[in-house]
Amino acid sequence: MKVGIDLIHFATSDYFLGLDTFAKEKGTDVNKYLIGIGQEQMSIAPPDEDIVTLSAKAAAPILEQIDKQKITAVLFATESGVDQSKSAGAFLHGLLGLPKRCRVVEFKHACYAGTAALQMANTMVKANPKEKILVIAADIAKYDVDSSGEATQGCGAVAMLVKENPRILTIEPGSGYYTDDVMDFWRPNYRTTALVDGKYSTKVYLNSLKQAWEHFVEETDRHFDEIDAFCYHIPFSRMTEKAHKTLIKKVKADVSNEKFKEQTLAGQTYNRVVGNSYSASLFIGFCSFLDNAAQDLGNKRFGFFSYGSGCVAEFFSGIIQPGYQQHLMTASHQTQIQSRQALSYKEYLNFYHQADTDADNITFPRYNKGLFRLEAIRDHIRIYEKQAL
Ligand code: COA
Repeated sequence: MKVGIDLIHFATSDYFLGLDTFAKEKGTDVNKYLIGIGQEQMSIAPPDEDIVTLSAKAAAPILEQIDKQKITAVLFATESGVDQSKSAGAFLHGLLGLPKRCRVVEFKHACYAGTAALQMANTMVKANPKEKILVIAADIAKYDVDSSGEATQGCGAVAMLVKENPRILTIEPGSGYYTDDVMDFWRPNYRTTALVDGKYSTKVYLNSLKQAWEHFVEETDRHFDEIDAFCYHIPFSRMTEKAHKTLIKKVKADVSNEKFKEQTLAGQTYNRVVGNSYSASLFIGFCSFLDNAAQDLGNKRFGFFSYGSGCVAEFFSGIIQPGYQQHLMTASHQTQIQSRQALSYKEYLNFYHQADTDADNITFPRYNKGLFRLEAIRDHIRIYEKQAL
């Protein structure tokens, strides 16, 4: 039975901070960002945007194309949860008017959780082909001001419809996985910003890639040369280059510069300007590859490496379905990115601090230009607004 991603769409916020603006503010050479970490811009969420509104923006165009009453589950992956108890998916379920006969649950393990949700959905459809599952991966990456992580913020949400006979990607059986209890990146419950040991995190990421790959090969007997393109988790775009070089060295492959680019480059176009979106990042990279590849990807095998600090990693593969181009939402992705408004550093800081509120009663100014926004918090209850078209 073929199961996988039938439709995929991502959303990001209406604002960005250019790393040129950032470099000027910090008195740093802009090439550290453009070349050193491979980032040009980062999407910044205003205070009336959160993972619920981002995911509603991501999912709505998918639901417009199907009978949404047939959705059987919402599996919501995030590490930017808005409530310690209620799942973000339940808020989303209400905003999108999904059927009551539906299961909703939140998944967490740093940037890995989106893959966990996708694999769970894959298994559920295999157990019952009637299942039509909405998988969401949504996050807002936030670090302390003046920390090394500040340049690698961003935000985004990806919605994926997982079902039998998918039109975009079939997920192949077998994968390689790896877990190690390490402290490379974490966010205690009392903090709104993450703590990271960036250099150590990069090392753990690359080691996890080698371990997950070894397991993948043992489990599937698939080899490097049988994979046409690679999507890696992207905390910052340059990480793709580090990861692919590491894998090539491990398998002792001979890959020309041109081939290297063909295997990885199209997957970075969006992430370079959206920034890190934690659990969504791998899948925004996948959207980027599908939308920006020069060649027809039909029947090509993709390798996916998912990494969540802390750490859990998985390498899996899938086959792009012929005719997938007809089902892409490229124009929506590109319009969103192009129509974002640039922020000055001061305006960014204003959003940054306002979004940090722990008030139990607050009405947010209107910044979010999308159909869904966080209007207020009243008596500790989050009030979302769905604007008329
Ligand atoms: N021109 C070109 N390259 C430059 C440069 C310039 N003017 N200045 C610096 N660089 C390069 C450095 O040589 C370095 O390259 P390398 O990685 O090949 O060594 C790179 O830019 C980064 O510079 P560095 O001094 O190491 O930056 P930093 O101390 O600010 O740390 C990160 C960068 C990415 C580690 C940091 O932003 C971070 O921790 N981000 C969070 C990472 C994360 O999210 N991890 C968890 C999930 S996987």
